[in-house]
Amino acid sequence: MSSALPAGLLVSGLLAYCRTGFEKELAAELDELAASAGLIGHVRAKPGTGFAVYQSLEALPATAFEDLADWRRPVFARQLLLWFAHITDLPERDRASPLRDAVKASRQRFGALVLETPDTDEAKQRSGFCRRFTAPLSRTLEQAGALRPDQTDLPVLHVMFESATTAWLAAAMPQDSSPWPMGIPRLRMPGGAPSRSTLKLSEAFITLLSEDERQTSLRAGLRAVDLGASPGGWTWQLASRGLHVTAVDNGPLSASVMATGMVEHLRADGFTWRPPRAVEWMVCDMVEQPSRIAALVADWIATGRCRRSIFNLKLPMKRRLDAVAQCRALIHKRLASVGPYDLRIKHLYHDREEVTAYLALRR
Ligand SMILES: C[S@@+](CC[C@H](N)C(=O)[O-])C[C@H]1O[C@@H](n2cnc3c(N)ncnc32)[C@H](O)[C@@H]1O
Repeated sequence: MSSALPAGLLVSGLLAYCRTGFEKELAAELDELAASAGLIGHVRAKPGTGFAVYQSLEALPATAFEDLADWRRPVFARQLLLWFAHITDLPERDRASPLRDAVKASRQRFGALVLETPDTDEAKQRSGFCRRFTAPLSRTLEQAGALRPDQTDLPVLHVMFESATTAWLAAAMPQDSSPWPMGIPRLRMPGGAPSRSTLKLSEAFITLLSEDERQTSLRAGLRAVDLGASPGGWTWQLASRGLHVTAVDNGPLSASVMATGMVEHLRADGFTWRPPRAVEWMVCDMVEQPSRIAALVADWIATGRCRRSIFNLKLPMKRRLDAVAQCRALIHKRLASVGPYDLRIKHLYHDREEVTAYLALRR
């Protein structure tokens, strides 16, 4: 976590965004995170709003949140911010002045400004307003000395419009927060990829792996296995980067995927098939019970059949957090004696009733 969190900023709590319908899970995660850091407060989350808030009993220096303000930690958070003001009754004819006053009252300077809304159909109607209002609000904040775009080491100011008259002001350090507005990476569907689920693996690569890990592991010439590959969206992601892919599925692979010349298609059962020699990647998108997938992936990693894996865990509608915790426990049981490992689990923008995970032994 960053040591660059502004010590002088008084923070009221955590503000996090999620897919609508996942507010309860996100709130429970924020509550647990805050409790693990010894904070006292409560969570607020209304179903269908696309965000959750943790409010500390008293405002605390930002450094009190140092160990928990990393957006990668909560599975269901698309973004995680430190909020310091909640402004209601914004007047329609002059929203800038009360926002400027609240930012000035924080005594914190910011290096960049992001205006956003939760990801709901209702709130999306305000995205045009956010675009139009960015330049005038930036000017107002710059004139007040609160926004210094030349100072990139300063935190980013997020203004989240919950409604036309209500906004949350929050701070984030770039290295600890999602780099995309609203926490949503806007990925273009690549020509030649056979299914939209190709975007899920692409998002997983940029969300779950570091730049270094991408460079090391997505090199041309390396080998990968895709379990449950049909019609081939994930296989295409790997093949288009020059990896040789064994695609395991009884279903067909699209012609565009086979045309890459990088793919061998095997009609076999993904649960029992094993590669003749170790591969860099095993990816898995089979629709099955999450605990079965977790056990399979952990076994491939433990026995050295692959170095790393990205896999999808389909969640039950209820008790989603329990399902994720059960998978974590299963993986831990299998790998604890093998060595330290990295397990990163995220509810990606392209995930619906599922989460995507990365697993590798640490070297
Ligand atoms: C969600 S789809 C995969 C989509 C794929 N990732 C893509 O991007 O095009 C799930 C696939 O898993 C396959 N599948 C399910 N159980 C399997 C098993 N035991 N062995 C191999 N494939 C399996 C299904 O045939 C189906 O094609």
